[in-house]
Amino acid sequence: MSKPNDTAEERILILDFGSQYNQLIARRVREIGIYCEIKPFSMTLDQIKAFGPLAIILSGGPSSVYDDNSPKIDKGVFALGIPVLGICYGAQLMAHTLGGKVVPADSLASREYGRTETEFDTKSSLFRNITEKSITWMSHGDSVKELPAGFTAIAHSKGCPFAGFEDNDRRFYAVQFHPEVNHSEKGRDILRTFLIDITGAKANWSMANYKQTAIDAIRAKVRDGKALLALSGGVDSSVAAALMSQAIGKNLTCVFVDHGLMRKDEGDQVQEIFSKYPINFIRVNAQKLFLEKLAGVSEPERKRKIIGEEFIRVFEAEAKKIGKVDFLVQGTIYPDVIESGLGSNAAVIKSHHNVGGLPDYVDFKEIIEPLRFLFKDEVRQLGRELGLPEYLVSRQPFPGPGLAIRIIGEITEEKLSVLREADWIFRSEIEATKVPEASQYFAVLTNTRSVGVMGDGRTYEYTLALRCVSTTDFMTATFTRIPYELLEKISHRIVNEVPHINRVVYDITAKPPATVEWE
Ligand code: XMP
Repeated sequence: MSKPNDTAEERILILDFGSQYNQLIARRVREIGIYCEIKPFSMTLDQIKAFGPLAIILSGGPSSVYDDNSPKIDKGVFALGIPVLGICYGAQLMAHTLGGKVVPADSLASREYGRTETEFDTKSSLFRNITEKSITWMSHGDSVKELPAGFTAIAHSKGCPFAGFEDNDRRFYAVQFHPEVNHSEKGRDILRTFLIDITGAKANWSMANYKQTAIDAIRAKVRDGKALLALSGGVDSSVAAALMSQAIGKNLTCVFVDHGLMRKDEGDQVQEIFSKYPINFIRVNAQKLFLEKLAGVSEPERKRKIIGEEFIRVFEAEAKKIGKVDFLVQGTIYPDVIESGLGSNAAVIKSHHNVGGLPDYVDFKEIIEPLRFLFKDEVRQLGRELGLPEYLVSRQPFPGPGLAIRIIGEITEEKLSVLREADWIFRSEIEATKVPEASQYFAVLTNTRSVGVMGDGRTYEYTLALRCVSTTDFMTATFTRIPYELLEKISHRIVNEVPHINRVVYDITAKPPATVEWE
């Protein structure tokens, strides 16, 4: 188990029983201004004590508490003298562990899924700040049938007599619904009551505070050692670089491998920002090398593999020149940590995160991951606190292999420059109009050529596809409803301003069945 982050003075522990909403619980707690971490349910009592939580939240999960091999917790959790909130499976586990009874909901005819009208006892501690009735999000196949001694029912719905229960003396609270989900209308208020009123948290976790404690922690760790960071120009590695730079200055070397597959002007922008920092900044112009390696390659996964391998090779060559370093800095962020901790079984559809093999190739003592406990929006906020420009911190996701997977088929220098120009026009028009809900937007150069007419002449040129999606998690996405007038303007500009494109199409496919990228 990784060491807890010791830069936060008050922390909440979320024990994970496998619910798909766990990251949301953590997001909500952080939004309220309190640091929290999600840990496996199997954490031992000693580990929990060492973590020092102000309160514990038991998450939901797909199991049934009465099954022999379902996840359980040490009963000692309830003897720590700190507040505990159980959510869904966590609520059932609390009831079960403390002597109540949980049964399949069918036996009570109380299976509930989705939006559910719920009534609350507003004299209870947990629900004192909300109205008597509101909608909650239910998703349970089991229900609590009998409460343990000391508990009283404080909420119910049509099918669930114990939608909420509490033992206020011992500060144990439980909800059958999911307060972390937006559909639970008063969910945020309930979590806030638990954390602030009941637990007494000061809620002073903010990126402004975090910045200084993180800098102090990095300084204490690195001392006068040397650190090396692979800077990609994306949000995470840029914020990591800015933070490390403020902490250790010249002892940091950033290597920016420009593979020539970035969007218009991006390589120069990265150089402009970071060459001003008091660090050793190295830009490796490897465009030619990458193009040579990619010559004649059209299969998407092959492109990814070549770029990933070549990236490591170039970085390794640069690192060798620097010699031995003490620390390798990586821009890993919290969602990656949570997902790898849970051993996600999601099928690998595309081989993302292609620089994963890096540590094997560089001579270093230890890895530093200064963003390891931050969610993406916290990373962006930290970037702002560190003075990085807004265009960089609010940058949309950009795949590691860059434009290589947005040129269908073989990659050439000419195609790259055509795509860069067209992509730039599309992005700047979307940004100028501030299309709401446009989460990621870019152009794709197809390898289809078609006939057109320009002036008096016949043309035979490429078709450009525009892709713009609305999504929060990039696992599913819909195409963004861009107004026709704007599409028309973009299409007009692209065919007139960019040579070799005579047709523009808009991708109206959702994910699934399509993916966001075309390759
Ligand atoms: P897909 O195309 O899988 O994309 O629906 C989901 C998100 O992942 C990004 N993406 C990548 N990111 N390396 C990356 O670092 C890759 O090879 C890669 N392929 C897709 C994509 O831009 C979208 O945000």
